[in-house]
Amino acid sequence: MSLRTVLASDLNPIQANAWLVGSIAPRPIAFASTVNEAGLRNLAPFSFFNAFGSNPPMLAFAPNRRGRDGTTKHTYQNVVATEEFVIATVSHAMVQQMNVASAEYEDGVDEFVKSGFTPLPAQFVKASLVAESPVQMECKLHQVVVLGSGPGSGLMLIGEILCFHVDETRLTNDVPDTRKLDLVGRNGDAFYTRAFGEALFEVAKPAGKPIGYDRLPEVLKASHVLSGNDLGRLANSAELPDLSSMEAHADDPVTIPELEAAIHFALQREDLPEAWRLVGLRLRA
Ligand SMILES: Cc1cc2nc3c(=O)[nH]c(=O)nc-3n(C[C@H](O)[C@H](O)[C@H](O)COP(=O)(O)O)c2cc1C
Repeated sequence: MSLRTVLASDLNPIQANAWLVGSIAPRPIAFASTVNEAGLRNLAPFSFFNAFGSNPPMLAFAPNRRGRDGTTKHTYQNVVATEEFVIATVSHAMVQQMNVASAEYEDGVDEFVKSGFTPLPAQFVKASLVAESPVQMECKLHQVVVLGSGPGSGLMLIGEILCFHVDETRLTNDVPDTRKLDLVGRNGDAFYTRAFGEALFEVAKPAGKPIGYDRLPEVLKASHVLSGNDLGRLANSAELPDLSSMEAHADDPVTIPELEAAIHFALQREDLPEAWRLVGLRLRA
């Protein structure tokens, strides 16, 4: 790998934005529903968005100053004026209409109408829910964090979540099930990510303090067959088994590349005991 280093101070705001969205991706999308002081609806997507605490539950998103002229967006103006908003999540079924809602319409244009989404009354705030969204949150403004004053500078809105609304069919054990949401994320340029099907995969959470990479046998680390993910999965073991006592079976592979390939496939099947058994044979090979 040849490393290119770019100083942030050498980038203009448009270039900095391209580096940010290309580097920090995929980003979840907050579909922000707000009203202005007169009660007119506004709806726009923001991918500078995440959750930041669970006691109380907090999220933040950033309707930033326009890169073109430094003016503020309607969403920002509405939240500052009303101190409340709804954040709807965006599923794959919503992405094209969501894109329409992101256009820079004039003040007072209702993007629910422009994009064809269905407004529903919220319980605690004046802004509308988005009927098509699988999970959404009613929020009250907690803090505005101003991150600059020039074009493209950040205006971060931190909100406390007052309630969640979820389509019942998306729940498993009474919480939103990521496998049933089909959410999209924003990547660099005009690319999106779909969190569905084979794109979703599970990684076993570390159980207590796993043994770590440093305790793996050196021959495994020198392998050209085992990948960083293979070694990471072994390093995530709760304990280092007694490798000298691993039993061989009649049909086990014998050569080092075959044994290492067998370790790799055992790890792919999530069969950790079998992977360690084969590691024991590999050390004796
Ligand atoms: C998927 C997506 C993500 C976006 N993320 C942001 C963002 O994080 N911050 C931002 O200022 N604009 C973002 N935009 C652009 C805004 O949606 C756009 O400027 C919109 O017109 C703002 O609407 P408003 O003036 O009604 O608030 C995004 C657009 C799309 C399509």
